[in-house]
Amino acid sequence: MNALVKPLLNTAPLKNNHQDFFQISVQAFANKERSLLCDLYLYIPRTNEYLFEWKAHRKVTRDQIRDWEKCELSGLRLAILSKDKNKLFLELGIKIEKDLQQFLTPLQKDDITLIKEHANYKKNLLQEISSITLPRLFTLALRNNQFLPVIQYVQKKILTFDINESETVSNARAFSELLVQDNHHLRSAAISVLYGEFLGFKDQQALSDIFCASLLKDMGLIFLNNRFLQEMTSELSKPDLKEYWQHGKMTDHLLQKSGIKLSARCLNLIKQHHELPSGNGQPLGLGPLNTDELSYLIGMVDTLFQYAESKFVNTKLTLLQICETLEKKKDLPGLIPYPKDQYKNLALFLLQSNSK
Ligand SMILES: [Fe+2]
Repeated sequence: MNALVKPLLNTAPLKNNHQDFFQISVQAFANKERSLLCDLYLYIPRTNEYLFEWKAHRKVTRDQIRDWEKCELSGLRLAILSKDKNKLFLELGIKIEKDLQQFLTPLQKDDITLIKEHANYKKNLLQEISSITLPRLFTLALRNNQFLPVIQYVQKKILTFDINESETVSNARAFSELLVQDNHHLRSAAISVLYGEFLGFKDQQALSDIFCASLLKDMGLIFLNNRFLQEMTSELSKPDLKEYWQHGKMTDHLLQKSGIKLSARCLNLIKQHHELPSGNGQPLGLGPLNTDELSYLIGMVDTLFQYAESKFVNTKLTLLQICETLEKKKDLPGLIPYPKDQYKNLALFLLQSNSK
């Protein structure tokens, strides 16, 4: 029997609160820092209970592994939900042989590892992505105001990211699995990622920061007055607007409370997504020296889609017409004032397809 990963045998009932658990040894982590794909629990033999211990997608540090080693020495055991077994075994690089419940062996270097599995998966996805003509997707998206194919292109791209790169990348991968429809938030996040990549932010950490920040940035609105979700911002009073601009901070607060771990940069992007290069943005009016340039990218893409959705003023223009107007550096009434050059670049990026 493998010493590293042991199926739950005679030591405790399999069921606890109607859920099956599966015990693992802390040695399975091989003292390697990583973010996990599933939640961890701590089994307390004295009370025969499984207590929630570690949230998925949070990075497990060496200090944490040392703490768990001490727990194990005192008789406690780490455990996962049985339904997560395959996920964790793949992640930790453990091959399952014969009967899953009876016999587990540590993975040999050249055997099936998660990395190998993921490499194949990644290869297939990259092949799929390379067969897609992005300009063509953009053309159809702008012409029909239908961004699902673009969103799912980005989904595939994010799913090729490394599994244990960082907490934010891990969360980006998890969130990307939910990209199955077209809405404001998903199209903003997808275009932000692609525009960020186009501007040279090509590493998966930066793209994941962009993706998670763009996707989650407005979650704080759910704690504020309902009219902020329903009314045009141009109709809000000054005190209302002051409250409205707090939603980035509220999102940050919500994320801290929820235990979803994101990078400091990503959280900064969330808090700064309504700042402007002029220094007249919200909520702090930070200038470019104190603002991450990616905040402008995320804010501008968001603004473009909000404008097309008549969030600022009632516009009669289609998304395509809005891009064509911005490309010519013409004014659009009620549009949040990012520099015209920056709007033009974004419009050119989206319209590149129309010239091909
Ligand atoms: Fe916002």
